[in-house]
Amino acid sequence: MDPVNNSRVAEFVLLGLSSSWELQYFFFMLFNLLYVTIVLGNLLIVLTVISEPALHTPMYIMLSNLSVLDVFLATYATPKMIHDFLYEPKTISFEGCMAQIFLLHVFAGGEMMLLAAMAYDRYVAICKPLHYATIMNLCKCTGLVVGSWVIGVMHALSQLAFTVNLSFCGPNIVDSYYCDLTLVIKLACTDPYVPEVLMLLDSGLMGVTSFVLLLISYAVILVTVRQRSSVHMAKARSTLTAHIIVVTLFFGPCIFIYAWPFSNFPVDKVLSVFSTVFTPILNPIIYTLRNKEVKSAMYKLKTKYVNSRLLSQLSLSRLDLLS
Ligand SMILES: *[C@@H]1O[C@H](CO)[C@@H](O)[C@H](O)[C@H]1NC(C)=O
Repeated sequence: MDPVNNSRVAEFVLLGLSSSWELQYFFFMLFNLLYVTIVLGNLLIVLTVISEPALHTPMYIMLSNLSVLDVFLATYATPKMIHDFLYEPKTISFEGCMAQIFLLHVFAGGEMMLLAAMAYDRYVAICKPLHYATIMNLCKCTGLVVGSWVIGVMHALSQLAFTVNLSFCGPNIVDSYYCDLTLVIKLACTDPYVPEVLMLLDSGLMGVTSFVLLLISYAVILVTVRQRSSVHMAKARSTLTAHIIVVTLFFGPCIFIYAWPFSNFPVDKVLSVFSTVFTPILNPIIYTLRNKEVKSAMYKLKTKYVNSRLLSQLSLSRLDLLS
């Protein structure tokens, strides 16, 4: 009944990655560079897949959808972090904080589901090659992509449903560079035990189950690949290795942060940077440097673009001569 106790905090203070000025200048440059690389690299993948008809297969369509998700995953918090390295005060409004929590869970949940869908696609392609065309068609692929988004949104809504109703009246300092649910939930005035258990069940269970399913499907695929050894299988093995690297680097930090939410380790901040900055950058690096089809499609794109520019410049200079 006390009005002071009932007043809700209007904003949260983000402590960021570091309090030293030199380090913040360094991080400002570093993360600017990383962010631009993430956006350009992933847009290049999307452009390549869209412009090359040979890449209009479920695997590449899901890959370019993963690139879109990566850009979103890098955008919900990183630009604000980059801004906050140089400017005070490092605050975020209550609504902004809830929006960050919501978006993080939509994009991370969607990415987990899409990675699972991509593993399923590889499972069908490698273990049931004769039935691939009938099992995985473009229509089913659309269903898997849309399904990933729907599950991501539903998961985020369920997390937000019990977070917005908590009362935040006291401390408002979040020791990270964005509003992470595991940290924000600890600031609630009510006993955070029940919400923490709900969060653990919701995020932890989702992360751990999809990770275990992914590991099982990759294990089945690897066993199948080992039994048949041919040139074709060597290619499958290199695709698989790329998938496994991405999956481990994405899930590892998520599971570490969410499966031990009751204690706050200092490494949590570093791990958050991993899933919001390094995973989105790894995707283009791993898929473009390792994949011949993507590389040759990019080469084609470049030749097309450069040639058309050369031609237009040539015709321009010819016009100059004529006039
Ligand atoms: C994402 O997937 C949908 C459904 O399969 C597809 O129509 C769309 O072109 C994909 N988006 C990108 C950017 O590849």
